[in-house]
Amino acid sequence: MDKIRIIGGTPLVGTIPISGAKNAALPLMAASLLTDDALTLFNLPYLADIVTMANLLAQHGVSLSMHGDGQGNGYGNGRGVSLDASNIHNLTAPYEVVRTMRASVLVLGPLLARFGAARVSLPGGCAIGTRPIDLHLKALEQMGAEIELLDGYINAKVASRLHGADIQFEKVSVGATENILMSACLADGETILRNAAREPEVCDLAYCLQAMGAQIEGIGTNELRIQGVDRLHGCDYSVIADRIEAGSFAAAAAITGGDVELLGVRAELLHSVIEKFNEAGISVTSTERGIRVKRTGDRIQGIDIMTQPYPGFPTDMQAQMMAMLTLAEGASMVTETIFENRYMHVPELTRMGAKIIVHGSSAMIRGVPSLRGAEVMATDLRASVSLVIAALAAEGETVIHRVYHLDRGYERLEEKLAACGANIERIASRQPAKVEAA
Ligand code: UD1
Repeated sequence: MDKIRIIGGTPLVGTIPISGAKNAALPLMAASLLTDDALTLFNLPYLADIVTMANLLAQHGVSLSMHGDGQGNGYGNGRGVSLDASNIHNLTAPYEVVRTMRASVLVLGPLLARFGAARVSLPGGCAIGTRPIDLHLKALEQMGAEIELLDGYINAKVASRLHGADIQFEKVSVGATENILMSACLADGETILRNAAREPEVCDLAYCLQAMGAQIEGIGTNELRIQGVDRLHGCDYSVIADRIEAGSFAAAAAITGGDVELLGVRAELLHSVIEKFNEAGISVTSTERGIRVKRTGDRIQGIDIMTQPYPGFPTDMQAQMMAMLTLAEGASMVTETIFENRYMHVPELTRMGAKIIVHGSSAMIRGVPSLRGAEVMATDLRASVSLVIAALAAEGETVIHRVYHLDRGYERLEEKLAACGANIERIASRQPAKVEAA
């Protein structure tokens, strides 16, 4: 398995193009199942999860064609892909795929809405918590689906067509909102989603569905009203920039005392994150091309953070902010309210010299003057990138293991950081020695 080696201490200075958002791209790809026309997506990041979703859709019968590079927001390397679901021959999403990527469950709603049946492996627990999908299933039942859990699979069917329903989500869930939003577009009658997630990635999906002919009101609010239509058509759609990738590089710039411009991202998508950066003494300003992040003072100031559904502070930025706060002046308190086990980075940061104590869902971070490089590893995507951030500011060498987590969500991470002066390299796993023919 590949590793990443970082020698810390160099301030990041330069520009970084931000890729299309993984968490917007995955549901958009699943939305291709809703129509027999081609859906063409631009600014798609090239990531392991995107390849997994492409493979999942292909085994359902979607044919995919790539359009090469350079069709993104003008700054990234975004690819274009056309997805044609006119020949679906398999309604099963198998365990082998779903277990590697939970977002696979997003095919459930579209398959059921268009074909009246779907069989999707139940995603298991994952490193950051139990992550049930009860809200998805309950809402589909309200829309007339019959659901049976058997042999580790969700078997869902509907007698004729899903019907509209008034759905009150008990909890704000990004995945459930997306799955049910897609289903409701082809249901008979009106569906109301109350307490819906309003993350920018949910809005991106809703705007694309509108471009495909869906009737959706309330985009950007926590109440979505969808009038079902008989069919959707194809469209061309460009994926929004990844606000979490941008936030991660912002934290890296801040911890190293750097000055970077993040290209292609809009400040309003990062409002709650920027507010916290400002409180910590980091200046974030809008530029014509994106945002500029610069540390103003000598040291970062300790702050308190609580994760919340959008527009609150995103759970997907919690680990990166914590890494940055390990070097703050004074203490910080981080409280995680979305996932129950999202502190796997803490023991690894501690190995680098950070002072962090976890009590239940809160972590107290006492800022230290410096971190030391070490060998570290993490068990999820954002935890792994938090170790990269810490390593960029640590004295000496850090080796990060299990780089495949980073490859799931960060496109060309080493290249983007190295272009801003970071001393970072990927160490490829050793290939078996070649046997020369005699
Ligand atoms: C999505 C993102 C993930 C991000 C998360 C929170 C994708 C592919 N993934 O995940 O990166 O960390 O949003 O912003 O976009 N819950 C239930 N029952 C359900 C569904 C969720 O209890 O049926 C709970 C979860 O356990 C969690 C909370 O609701 O505590 C939020 O989960 P959710 O928003 O659904 O996260 P994901 O959609 O899985």
